Amino acid sequence: MPLKIQGRLLERQLRCRALQSPLAGVSDRIFRNLVRRWAPDALLFTEMVNATSLELGHGRLKMDGLQEETGPIGVQLFDHHPDAMADAARRAADAGAFLIDINMGCPVRKIARKGGGSGLIRDPDLACRIVEKVEAAVGLPVTVKTRLGWCSEHNAIGVEAAVNWCRRLEDAGARMLTLHGRTREQRFSGTADWNAIAAVKAALRIPVIANGDVNSPEEALRCLRITGADGVMVGRGSMGAPWLVGQIDAALSGLPIPTTPAPLDRLVLAKEQLLALIEARGDHGLLIARKHMSWTCTGFPGASQFRQQLMRAPTPAAALDLLDQQMQRIQ
Ligand SMILES: Cc1cc2nc3c(=O)[nH]c(=O)nc-3n(C[C@H](O)[C@H](O)[C@H](O)COP(=O)(O)O)c2cc1C
Repeated sequence: MPLKIQGRLLERQLRCRALQSPLAGVSDRIFRNLVRRWAPDALLFTEMVNATSLELGHGRLKMDGLQEETGPIGVQLFDHHPDAMADAARRAADAGAFLIDINMGCPVRKIARKGGGSGLIRDPDLACRIVEKVEAAVGLPVTVKTRLGWCSEHNAIGVEAAVNWCRRLEDAGARMLTLHGRTREQRFSGTADWNAIAAVKAALRIPVIANGDVNSPEEALRCLRITGADGVMVGRGSMGAPWLVGQIDAALSGLPIPTTPAPLDRLVLAKEQLLALIEARGDHGLLIARKHMSWTCTGFPGASQFRQQLMRAPTPAAALDLLDQQMQRIQ
């Protein structure tokens, strides 16, 4: 059964219960194309886009080419200005967004201190005003991605605080909630609290997506069993592993799980990603590709030494040469 997300005017349906998380600096169009190779129906997200910067003309690159995406693409926005968020949402809808997601979880100090990202957890009134404004601005579903709370004191009250926070977002008009099972204070440390996500899921009427520490098909199945959530969102586990969302989707659909690409295939993938980044971004593409290559080029003897060499490659041509040589070595 597809997952229905009802917007003010438009309903969206998801055939795939595994979602790829927005990852700043990672989930660009080229990465998303790779994810879609294994998970064509999965909901993917742009990297977060700052609404005010968008007004000033920055960040547009992140919304370029949305019409050409071959599957559902959510545009994720962050800011603390309701009007700027509403404007940005309109632009995103015009650009071809499948839905609009509001970031209320980003722990980065510079963003949270100004009141954006996870900073909104500390100002629920403003958070709700933002949801209401964005919701009124577009007919598409407006969703929120957030955390359990700001700090552990928040959590010490039990999961009640998390439930209240998420209920407020639902009442303000959020049509789906993705919940990272950590507080802002935890950032990425400790383990995600799937039991707290279960409590929120039980209390809400809108779909809830569980996020945090889902790094394999087995963990996805266990997470859904514990949380009762409507789907799982995969973040760090997919970095260097664009096949993971597809593997999880297969597991959740009871289909055979696609095999993890062998080291040689991963090198081929790294080369493809590098070439695409160079085509899109020129020599700067090499800088972006470095982190992806360092995650993907693994699993063969001497991999660590090879990665060190690759990271030092001064030009795209030098990096491509190194990849070709390594492919020949392990063929
Ligand atoms: C490099 C990096 C970039 C991220 N960028 C975003 C972002 O732009 N928007 C967002 O909502 N979350 C962002 N996150 C958080 C992830 O989407 C996710 O919520 C978090 O990593 C927990 O899931 P995981 O345990 O599967 O990684 C980012 C995380 C990392 C590690």
